Amino acid sequence: MTAADETSAVAYDAALASLVRFHADLMPKLGALREADPSCAMAHVLAGAVPMLAYTAKLVPAARAGLAAARHATANAREQLHIAALDAWTRGDIDAAIAGWETILASHPRDLLALFLAHNSNFWLGRPQDMRASVERVRLQWSPAVPGFGAMLACRCFAQEECGDFLAAEPDGRRSVAEDPGNFWATHAVAHILEMQARRAEGIAWLGGLAPHWGSGNNLRHHLWWHRALYHLEGGEMDVVLALYDAEFRNLASPLTIAMPDLHIDVQNAASMLARLEMRGVDVGGRWEELADQAEKKIGDTVSPFTLPHAMMALAATGRGGAADRLLAATQEAASGADRSPTRRPILAAAVLPAMRGVRAWREGRPADAVEAMRPALGAFTTMGGSHAQQDVLEQIFVHCARQAGLGQDVAMAVARFAGRRRMPVAAFSLWRDAG
Ligand SMILES: [Fe+2]
Repeated sequence: MTAADETSAVAYDAALASLVRFHADLMPKLGALREADPSCAMAHVLAGAVPMLAYTAKLVPAARAGLAAARHATANAREQLHIAALDAWTRGDIDAAIAGWETILASHPRDLLALFLAHNSNFWLGRPQDMRASVERVRLQWSPAVPGFGAMLACRCFAQEECGDFLAAEPDGRRSVAEDPGNFWATHAVAHILEMQARRAEGIAWLGGLAPHWGSGNNLRHHLWWHRALYHLEGGEMDVVLALYDAEFRNLASPLTIAMPDLHIDVQNAASMLARLEMRGVDVGGRWEELADQAEKKIGDTVSPFTLPHAMMALAATGRGGAADRLLAATQEAASGADRSPTRRPILAAAVLPAMRGVRAWREGRPADAVEAMRPALGAFTTMGGSHAQQDVLEQIFVHCARQAGLGQDVAMAVARFAGRRRMPVAAFSLWRDAG
């Protein structure tokens, strides 16, 4: 790698380790490195990638600033590929960016940044098979002696989990956490396995045992608390869910939330949990209001497709019909070309708009309309990104509305879809459903 000296390379490794472990000290580490060694091209690439990972239009200029700095530095062939991939990403050509990272991995299978960014981008496009293929292609080039091995295992675990191969997934995640309890991505991947297999008591114990390590985490720690709340929700412990909502994953007084109250993953956590609670008849008080405020401020930002139906949940829950209209119109405009991203535009049209219309109809007491809007797009929803556990909220809304509207065939169809994803026999799932 291009750097002034070994100290810079070591500092880059430390910053990269923070990124892949989802630690909050990434930016100070990176800032110090860029100041100490402006010749380090990869430091600038990383500084461009980090704002992109916030998935919001307002931070794309910061990403382009990192890109511009990287272009001014001397770069070897691998670094040039990173610069080109970052350029494609900032232009919204996410397919080209992923192809670039895969090109790097073909010759440099231990390039952890390329591996992580391909993994993350495939995840936010709902492409678990590509996540798995990406890590499987390189994993034999890794060994426990290679720094970042645990991060590779975490990616492999999560990729296998999202492909539904829970048995193959679990050992890698547990191994990674055993070696480094501060690897939040591995912690998270195992939490998903336990969620998908309805191993709730194990999930609560797993996350409860690891929570003391989360002090150094970035916003992923909110998502880990969200996962914990999900186990409690499914166990019927609604008071615990609301307490975790206020104290942990939507704590408005926490510095992470204050710094970025509209962060995509945080908004998804919060809106999705409130929707799930309300479908179960729980009074969530005034919690939607601040989420609706954030959603209104962000109308026109389509960089995170999966966040948009969550924004609609908040606007519709608070009766902000005018804002809901504006959100739909802005998304329609983006799908028609205002969003310059060739990767996102078809997703906005095929998945986001139907999901938003369905969510709105549900909230406005038109369950048959919600089913009509969502039914043709159910298979496309995963392209908005997010995990199966996160995506579940949209299908829950679909089933909820289908039951309200007396559309039995739609209920049966959705149940068969759930059962397949969780590797459960349909009959068992139906019994579970019929039990209420
Ligand atoms: Fe998750």
